[in-house]
Amino acid sequence: MEAGTVGGIVGGTVRRNTGRHGDSRLITDLMGLLGVAHVLVDPDLTAGYETDWTGAFTGRATAVARPGSTDEVAAVLRICAAHGVPVVPQGGNTGLVGGSVPAGAAIGAVVLSLRRLTAIEPVDAAAGLVTAGAGATLADVQAHARAAGLDSGVDLAARDSATLGGIAATNAGGERVLRHGMTRGQVAGLEAVLADGRVVRRLTGLPKDNVGYDLPALFVGSEGTLGVITRVQLRLVGLPSARTTALIALADITSAVELLARLRTAAGSLDAVELMFDDGIDLVRAHQGLPSPFPDRPADRSRPSGAHNTPYLLVECAGRTDPSDELAAVVETATGVLDVAVATTPTEQARLWAYREGHTAAVNALGVPVKLDVAVPLSRITAFIDGLRELVPAVARPARLHLWGHLAEANLHVNVTGLDRDDSRGREKLTDVILTRVAADGGGIGAEHGVGRAKMAWAGLSRSPAELAVIAAVKHALDPACLLNPGVLVPPYGIALTPGPPVPPA
Ligand code: FAD
Ligand code: MLT
Ligand code: ZN
Repeated sequence: MEAGTVGGIVGGTVRRNTGRHGDSRLITDLMGLLGVAHVLVDPDLTAGYETDWTGAFTGRATAVARPGSTDEVAAVLRICAAHGVPVVPQGGNTGLVGGSVPAGAAIGAVVLSLRRLTAIEPVDAAAGLVTAGAGATLADVQAHARAAGLDSGVDLAARDSATLGGIAATNAGGERVLRHGMTRGQVAGLEAVLADGRVVRRLTGLPKDNVGYDLPALFVGSEGTLGVITRVQLRLVGLPSARTTALIALADITSAVELLARLRTAAGSLDAVELMFDDGIDLVRAHQGLPSPFPDRPADRSRPSGAHNTPYLLVECAGRTDPSDELAAVVETATGVLDVAVATTPTEQARLWAYREGHTAAVNALGVPVKLDVAVPLSRITAFIDGLRELVPAVARPARLHLWGHLAEANLHVNVTGLDRDDSRGREKLTDVILTRVAADGGGIGAEHGVGRAKMAWAGLSRSPAELAVIAAVKHALDPACLLNPGVLVPPYGIALTPGPPVPPA
């Protein structure tokens, strides 16, 4: 990485603000740099930056700074360092673990919004790369790449708002991981600004470039704790010209896992295998006013014995030639298939995807969920799900469990509604019980959304003390004053990290 601007690092301790707007010298300095229009202090204007997508995390910012270039990002960071005020980087604010807002240890921080960094450079088709500003939305990058005959290997339902910077910072997963891997594998290079204003940049686009540590990869998944990402160089993948999508009702999860195995071995065009249940589909239908995906079918044909937990797989195959026959050949010979709806046009496919992608909003409409994002080995997934259906009502009442996810990565989104937003003890207890079960089953407590503020206290269930010490050492080396996103991923300095929920105040 090149060393860029070397700013005046300011040592000393970080001053924690009270959360009240009105740090006039800091605000004056920021306004002097960015102009009044790009430093928001009016609560009506800052509100949208202060609460996360789920509504679970909220806190007042001293100001929202909206720089328009890498140099301005560096200057904002130098000013905040000089004032000892922490910074919360924010992209589309679609993150689901509370890392994008000034809550908890970051109350009173400056929210550094990257949304003005939207430039997208021309696609380099020969290298299969595109470089874009951190504030470019995934949807805009996808449209840009597709116009050049290529595509992004990363895709997720929040594409219209989620930014490349946020996607890199969270190492986002999404719906195409089984074919293209997580975001980390798609980031060829990036540019980031350190807490002291220095710029590090690796955007050569050379796939073979071995000189020690892979610094761009270090920032991927760092959740705004090591630097502010300002540009991202994304690998591009081939643009399929034909897609076939099938929504398949199955007798049970075992049948779903068997179908996944058959698809992997027999369908080279396999692009997505998403899991949901009929209670989730019903919820999305009620939320969006959608018809049944199987209009010709009696209402409960896919619910043997009246059960309300029939699993569904949304399977998509994509390629340069029509993958319909390849997909049909697997599905026709699979066991436990109760119903299939097939879509081959973009309009029909969007209708099927709406049942899957509508889950997040439909669940949130019921109230602020306890939102967990776990992975458990596929060999244990049936027992894990059965266990959850018993465990959740036993631990929390009233509680409603919602399950869906990305089956190919054994990634389950475990959401529980019914608990009061302010019932922090109840929420922590439920989180603790579920994540402890996940760890006991050999799973991971954070699959694709990151750790953020929501899971920080449980990181020790998925990482050893030695690993946590290395993570803390890297954080300390790059951000010794703990200015960047305090309370996310790494405990604010001076607070020991132990597995289990934070000890509630007496
Ligand atoms: P933000 O929410 O703004 O920030 C997320 C984190 O990244 C924060 O810690 C923030 O400080 C940090 N950050 C943001 N920008 C920068 C930057 N430029 N430099 C340094 N740090 C930065 N996630 C998945 O993985 N898979 C999914 O399938 C998926 N589906 C979703 C569907 C819906 C409907 C919603 C609402 C969310 C979904 N998410 C999913 C979560 C979310 O979209 C991703 O985490 C996304 O990567 C966040 O991007 P963002 O720009 O909104 O980041
Ligand atoms: C999803 O796959 O639907 C997302 O990761 C969002 C969520 O978990 O709510
Ligand atoms: Zn997901």
